[in-house]
Amino acid sequence: MIHYEWAAILDADSSASVDELLAVAVAADAEAGFSTARPDPGVASGRHLLVRMPPRGQRESPDLDRLPEVSLVAYAHLSLAGAGVAHMQLVVHPSFRSLGIATLLCERLRDEETGWRGLEGVTTVQGWAHGPHPAAERLAQRVGARPIDLVMRCVHEIDRRPDRGPEPWPESASAEPLPEAAPAHESGLTPADVEGRRRRPREIGVIGDPVVADVRVCEPGPERPFPAAHMAVVGSTEPDRATDAQLDLLLRQSVATAAAAGAAHAVLHVPVDDERLLSIARTCGFAHDQSDLRFELAIR
Ligand SMILES: CC(C)(COP(=O)(O)OP(=O)(O)OC[C@H]1O[C@@H](n2cnc3c(N)ncnc32)[C@H](O)[C@@H]1OP(=O)(O)O)[C@@H](O)C(=O)NCCC(=O)NCCS
Repeated sequence: MIHYEWAAILDADSSASVDELLAVAVAADAEAGFSTARPDPGVASGRHLLVRMPPRGQRESPDLDRLPEVSLVAYAHLSLAGAGVAHMQLVVHPSFRSLGIATLLCERLRDEETGWRGLEGVTTVQGWAHGPHPAAERLAQRVGARPIDLVMRCVHEIDRRPDRGPEPWPESASAEPLPEAAPAHESGLTPADVEGRRRRPREIGVIGDPVVADVRVCEPGPERPFPAAHMAVVGSTEPDRATDAQLDLLLRQSVATAAAAGAAHAVLHVPVDDERLLSIARTCGFAHDQSDLRFELAIR
């Protein structure tokens, strides 16, 4: 009843269908408080799995017939990350969730004939669950995937002074993204977070060696006069040489930079095993906002 199609490259129609599905999923997941997978259709960078449902009246179930007509009910993207590892991003259309579609899909992916065979040499598949969605954790358990990374999204609400507008913004606003807290972590962040992380650095090197902060602030606009700042602590030489006091000052100065630039809150992603940075971030007023989990599944 469900139709699966693998594609090495997305044609214009498929690409439009994927965009449509992701737009609906991003809106639904942001509303529910979850981030969402945001696979990049890309070019021939892996394999795309497109999942379709027959039109209403041909779905062999009155319950399914009541659900809307959509061009894709699910989409998975597999990209090669080297050393036998593939990254997977998977999203199910919000109207078709909790029906077992992702479970079916994972069974199919594990099948020798219909699954990963197009990805030569792949032994391990990894994927991020941002939020994480409760179904993603259940799904991971069900297929035997194990969690290998946990990244905490920490947010500092900024107490803005109403009498001061944001500082003038420099013109060219795009740049290399902020360094990731863990491999491929950015691939599933919300579009707003991804955009923020790609702004031109507002400030680098607040303290200087041995650690620097890289602070990005979204451009203010009519829809978000007081946007978010995204920041990362970057070890320029040996981050472990920085004292707690230096890190503390670095974070506080970074938040001050974000505040001066008009941000309403500052976002810092920290790997859970960086206990020192997590603890200092807490002291500086960052609060845990969500956890992102990376799963790994051995497929051979
Ligand atoms: C995560 C996601 C892919 C699951 O798709 P789905 O088709 O709804 O999943 P299934 O119906 O196959 O359910 C999978 C498991 O989650 C459980 N589940 C489904 N919806 C749930 C919910 N809202 N709350 C808690 N558990 C839920 C199911 O009972 C099932 O568990 P079981 O194996 O013990 O029976 C889908 O919710 C989604 O697209 N989320 C946003 C993108 C995302 O987080 N991607 C990361 C994937 S790793």
